[in-house]
Amino acid sequence: MKVLGIDIGGTGIKGAVVDTSRGVFKTDRLRILTPHPATPDAVADVVDRIVRHFDWEGPVGFAFPGVVKHGTIHTAANLDATWVGLDGGALFSAAAGGLPVTVLNDADAAGRAEMAFGAGKEHGKPGRSSVVVMVTLGTGIGTAVFTNGQLVPNTELGHLELHGGDAERYAAESVRETQGLRWEEWAARVDEYLRILENLLWPDLIVIGGGVSKQADQFLPLLTTRTPVVPARLRNRAGIIGAALAGATMAPPKQKRLRKR
Ligand code: BGC
Repeated sequence: MKVLGIDIGGTGIKGAVVDTSRGVFKTDRLRILTPHPATPDAVADVVDRIVRHFDWEGPVGFAFPGVVKHGTIHTAANLDATWVGLDGGALFSAAAGGLPVTVLNDADAAGRAEMAFGAGKEHGKPGRSSVVVMVTLGTGIGTAVFTNGQLVPNTELGHLELHGGDAERYAAESVRETQGLRWEEWAARVDEYLRILENLLWPDLIVIGGGVSKQADQFLPLLTTRTPVVPARLRNRAGIIGAALAGATMAPPKQKRLRKR
């Protein structure tokens, strides 16, 4: 099945059409900078542009950087406070011209993609007893926890307390950039964070996602966790692919488009 996946981030909003049976892009990826302030209206305009760019008429899956329960947005730490309490499903469907949509947390989306097609594939196989944690390092820190291949949705372990503050303000990729940290300095922070995570959850595998996973060689060898840590195999495509996977499982296969051009 083909589904348009849209990954809404604090820095960029990215979309591509995905073949959900194989977990691969069927089109190029379109990336548009996240508007500031990232209000619902401003983000909806970008969504409209992406849907039109692909001339898309099918289901759309959205990865959103906050807690999403039954379509309702409960947090949006790195976007705009006005998102909280909104019906994300209704908002994104309207922005996409009435197309059927699904919305889930961005780290959960990336984790789903990695479990299905990437670094967590072996651990996600039926009958396998495992705990896998996906950690996305980007503007913030996102987490997705899988037990025996099943997602425990909306874990927000990027907000664990570390040195008296929010862990994502200490160890996210954006902190490395804004504070100009050397790789060793930043890796030491990520290491501290992951060691807390592994002591709380005792996972079998930690998968690191986000754009920085492309540069895994710079920091993964510096980590001292007991748990194996591997980079996301789908790199920063994971969010889009996972969003599309969610769209494929939850959206009705056919629905009349309402969009007028
Ligand atoms: C949000 C999470 C999100 C993560 C990555 C955090 O600030 O609370 O929901 O997954 O950023 O975008």
